[in-house]
Amino acid sequence: MDLCVERHRHAGRLAAGALDRRRPSGRRHAGRPAGRGGAAARSRRPGRGGLALAGPETARVVISLVHTAHLGPHGLADVRDLCGLAFDDYDDATFQHALGGTHALVRHDNVLVAHGAVVLRRLCIGGRWLRCGWIESVATHPGHRGRGYAHTVMAALETLAPGYEVMGLCASDVGRSLYSSRGWILWRGPASVLSPDGVRPTPDEDSIYVQTRRPVDFDGPIVCDWREGEVW
Ligand SMILES: CC(C)(COP(=O)(O)OP(=O)(O)OC[C@H]1O[C@@H](n2cnc3c(N)ncnc32)[C@H](O)[C@@H]1OP(=O)(O)O)[C@@H](O)C(=O)NCCC(=O)NCCS
Repeated sequence: MDLCVERHRHAGRLAAGALDRRRPSGRRHAGRPAGRGGAAARSRRPGRGGLALAGPETARVVISLVHTAHLGPHGLADVRDLCGLAFDDYDDATFQHALGGTHALVRHDNVLVAHGAVVLRRLCIGGRWLRCGWIESVATHPGHRGRGYAHTVMAALETLAPGYEVMGLCASDVGRSLYSSRGWILWRGPASVLSPDGVRPTPDEDSIYVQTRRPVDFDGPIVCDWREGEVW
């Protein structure tokens, strides 16, 4: 069952402006050529109850929030294909990092054109291990970029922030402006990982962005929990 972002169901929790394609309310405002095949070839019906944005330009755009468990094999394959198209170096280990949480899906004419996921992990900030909603695999199909779909994905994922003590992500170079324009703050302090051998610095990591209502020192240390592959 899709947990869809529907204006009438979530009017109290999802500000109308949060579905704006470029400037979510209450926030600091916030490639390659189009190809065939992959996600585009496996066209599917949108999830039940997904939100079709109003207006002539967006009437065929449907947004939904779906847990990994409810994506099904075709939905999983669509996400994997889209991310493979969007990123230059997307592998199965990276795909694994995006599973086990909630996916924001943007479909245009029933084709998946943008995706992002939030998964649970722990970050140690200020000496406390916080419940973190970690954003993974934000991607827009190369043929559908510059239309605000990544903003739409982020707006949908950010509605889940109340379920966590902190939200975090690691930005690609091209993704930095997306997150900073939405009010995500670049972490300036030293980063480490709690590896099986103990806490290990990750000094090359300089693109961690955090969003939280807690008072935190963005110049202090930050530690993430362990996982296979890229830890951040
Ligand atoms: C980054 C990405 C998701 C943006 O998708 P999109 O749907 O085109 O983004 P939007 O139209 O919502 O625009 C988001 C912001 O990114 C900027 N942007 C988009 N493409 C850009 C590009 N090629 N170069 C520089 N900035 C770009 C937009 O100007 C916009 O900035 P603003 O918020 O200041 O207005 C997309 O380019 C992509 O999939 N890239 C490859 C995967 C990747 O790096 N993902 C981010 C992982 S952290």
